[in-house]
Amino acid sequence: MTDATAGGPTPKPGILDIAPYVGGKSAIAGVAEPMKLSSNENMLGAGEKARVAYEAAVRNIHVYPDGRATKLRAAVAETHGLEPERLIFGNGSDEVFALLNQTYLQPGDNIVTGQYGFLAYRISAKACEAEVKLAPEPNYKAEVDALLAQVDDRTKIVYVSNPSNPTGSWNSGEEIRRLHAALPDHVLLVVDEAYAEYVTEPDWETSFGLARDAANIVVTRTFSKIHGLGGLRIGFGYAPLAVAEARSTASACRSTSRSRGWKPPQPPCRTRRTRRPRAS
Ligand SMILES: Cc1ncc(COP(=O)(O)O)c(C=O)c1O
Repeated sequence: MTDATAGGPTPKPGILDIAPYVGGKSAIAGVAEPMKLSSNENMLGAGEKARVAYEAAVRNIHVYPDGRATKLRAAVAETHGLEPERLIFGNGSDEVFALLNQTYLQPGDNIVTGQYGFLAYRISAKACEAEVKLAPEPNYKAEVDALLAQVDDRTKIVYVSNPSNPTGSWNSGEEIRRLHAALPDHVLLVVDEAYAEYVTEPDWETSFGLARDAANIVVTRTFSKIHGLGGLRIGFGYAPLAVAEARSTASACRSTSRSRGWKPPQPPCRTRRTRRPRAS
């Protein structure tokens, strides 16, 4: 069969070489509602309040969302004690990685991550015609020195998931500080804390504190895992102000999907006719 649609535009170099993200199996014969553990979906589902809010939001889906995610921004800032204007929201944290890559990577630049680092970092980096440099993880854990050994003049971003998926390993607060201290200022360190709420190891620390005074750290979180909202696609990054501002000019999209508030038009008010008093 000839392809009548052949001969159209040519994708950028490398696009067709990107191995697409392959999720785990979603269906098993004979099992009506299997749990997809490969994507770490929350087996308990979303909380009751989230479900109620989602159902209520259905009235507004014809209205575009607030591009600044103002309410969510304020709530996240308050919950984590962060400055609201330093938050970047994305359609899942996947999109925060893609936006950072889009903002900082030029063809020939590179990102550095661990051998088993999350695939989303690589896919969107390759779409920017950047190279992906992988640090060996012989013990299924991101090693600071191995990551640093991959950094060169063309490195723009180092990605570490902490704790990591799929290896389940983590880096201590001290290791993340050492990694950051050894990176040149022009390299952005992205600490992906998608599973932060699950960590119990005493030497693990969130990097929010380290990021507060640094010009080159972004810490990302997601609503997909602990909050069971993977289907809604909400993630955020806590970034230096200059990074948050650069990102917002790089994209025109309204990444988070909840529509801004809207009230249905009210039926016209009926004024009761008052009878004229009869002339007596
Ligand atoms: C390490 C890691 N980071 C980020 C994500 C992406 O999360 P989101 O649903 O916010 O895009 C995942 C999802 O599986 C993950 O495993």
